[in-house]
Amino acid sequence: MDYTQIISEIREKTLYITINRAQKLNALNKEVLTELADAIAFAKNSDEVLAVLITGAGEKAFVAGADISEFQNYTLEEAKELARTGHQTVFDAIENCSKPVLAVINGFALGGGLELALACHIRIASENAKLGLPEVTLGLIPGYGGTQRLTQLIGKGRALEMIATADMISAEKAAAIGLVNEVVPQANLLDKADEILNKIKQRAPLAIASAIKAVNAATKDGVNGFEVEIEEFANCFQTADFKEGVEAFLQKRKAVFIGK
Ligand code: COA
Repeated sequence: MDYTQIISEIREKTLYITINRAQKLNALNKEVLTELADAIAFAKNSDEVLAVLITGAGEKAFVAGADISEFQNYTLEEAKELARTGHQTVFDAIENCSKPVLAVINGFALGGGLELALACHIRIASENAKLGLPEVTLGLIPGYGGTQRLTQLIGKGRALEMIATADMISAEKAAAIGLVNEVVPQANLLDKADEILNKIKQRAPLAIASAIKAVNAATKDGVNGFEVEIEEFANCFQTADFKEGVEAFLQKRKAVFIGK
């Protein structure tokens, strides 16, 4: 698929995805969502990719929400379809991606933009970032997982305060309440992201995939996360990388993992 709304490039086995609509603060229109869905599906299936980084073009916004100009005149069924398709093809696809997905929040992360960051496995932010779920100012509620993932991450009281007041919070406050992992000056943001991903990329890829699956199970209704952990733990013993990891440790050398 040729992309016109995002930039997607692989460097050293990281797929860098940049949402490229800076003039509209990278708002998520239908094309952006379609292209994001395609890029995530590609990352999941490609042997060339070990990790994914998602950021926004420019210095002002990660993503300032779903594109409000597309919102008028939706019927009940169309609104449901919009949310359901988005959940399945982008937001759930990111959360369930077997490769780590890092949100690099370089400015406003509002509405669907914060929901995009929430679907990612790890979030880091620049000092100027502002995060919020302002949907109630439009007479809406978050529709791409925000009510669920924000609650899981920061707890019900704080989540409802953010959703009901529609207030934006600073990056510093977001770090203090566990909404982002790190805050760094904007100029250092990509270096910090690479530092984190370079560590993860040195680990055994199948163990990383198992870890993502087991950690995700902690917040899935009707799934016994302890059972998922037991299964995934046992599966790791069947991998060539497990044998390599143990052998390398015993031989006092660095393990070379092949993702098998
Ligand atoms: N959907 C569509 N367009 C958006 C957008 C969105 N979510 N967010 C920003 N834009 C557009 C603006 O309409 C403007 O376009 P224009 O230059 O053609 O008029 C452009 O991006 C720049 O935004 P602007 O509002 O001029 O920047 P600002 O610095 O004054 O304000 C924000 C920044 C983020 C506070 C403001 O853009 C905003 O409130 N955006 C909407 C946030 C929101 O409610 N998101 C949730 C949607 S569900």
